[in-house]
Amino acid sequence: MKKNIIITGATDGIGLAAAKVIASKNYQIGLVGRNPEKGKKAIETIQSKTGNENLDFFQCDLSSVKNIKKLSDEIKSKYSKIDVLLNNAGGANKTKVITSEGLEKTFATNQMNYYVLSTELLNIISESNDGRIVNVASNAHIGAEIDYENVNAEKSFSAWTSYCVSKLMNIMMTYKMAAMQDKVSVNVLHPGFVDTNIAGNEGSLIKYIVKFGAKLFARSVESGADSSIYLSTSDDVKGVSGKYFFKCREIQSSKASYVKEDWDKVWSLCQKFKEDIL
Ligand SMILES: NC(=O)c1ccc[n+]([C@@H]2O[C@H](COP(=O)([O-])OP(=O)(O)OC[C@H]3O[C@@H](n4cnc5c(N)ncnc54)[C@H](OP(=O)(O)O)[C@@H]3O)[C@@H](O)[C@H]2O)c1
Repeated sequence: MKKNIIITGATDGIGLAAAKVIASKNYQIGLVGRNPEKGKKAIETIQSKTGNENLDFFQCDLSSVKNIKKLSDEIKSKYSKIDVLLNNAGGANKTKVITSEGLEKTFATNQMNYYVLSTELLNIISESNDGRIVNVASNAHIGAEIDYENVNAEKSFSAWTSYCVSKLMNIMMTYKMAAMQDKVSVNVLHPGFVDTNIAGNEGSLIKYIVKFGAKLFARSVESGADSSIYLSTSDDVKGVSGKYFFKCREIQSSKASYVKEDWDKVWSLCQKFKEDIL
């Protein structure tokens, strides 16, 4: 039976680059994005490049917990098992935005999104005999510290801090989930500094620094997708779980990311927000 994969943020950047290569490996792909026009275009591009016709688009704004629950139900009604969930969609909001569900938008999009989709789909990923969850984080987590009293910018807001904290949470959530169960492998990665649109909605100064730096130093999207493709599809990492990767090699994440009490705190706070919102 053909393997399948759900890729979030598959309409652009690293997610789209990963989808193209994974489609060429003959996976059935569920592409998730918020913009149907970009979704249609991504499917046309992948189909013409690979000839793979087993592509579905799911429209969802992943900054909303309720939307993610609906998306999970839709995915579960379409597929009876999932082999891989590649949590990739993310970004950084330049200003403080509190969603209608009361969450700071970068935290909602980057961390609550990964948490809710993973926990909602875990039972059908467990139906695969090689179920995998792959989370795209970032080395931007290095140096970040979580202020549990300011998760939704209650006291102050900085676009960069919020982004870095969300990426630290991605890593802690991965380690916690990997430790909690052994049916599905859960790994996390840093794609490198990649020339994408990610800085497009950041503050103007950051945006121009990032764009300028990107021209000089960034990896291409194809290279930046290497660990996402490797962890999602390679037999080399079958059964490997709870690890952090860069350029398809295991690396260490920050010291703070290995503090188990913080894994528990991050897990509990995400679970609490999820329960309160749903
Ligand atoms: N680029 C880098 O240097 C870098 C470095 C480290 C980590 N990362 C991580 O890599 C991942 C991918 O980033 P990228 O650089 O490829 O960014 P990108 O080019 O901006 O692509 C992000 C993707 O996520 C989707 N997305 C964003 N917000 C969404 C929402 N609320 N609902 C649904 N979809 C949403 C976007 O959809 P639209 O097409 O509708 O915008 C797009 O498909 C992110 O997790 C990021 O944190 C990137």
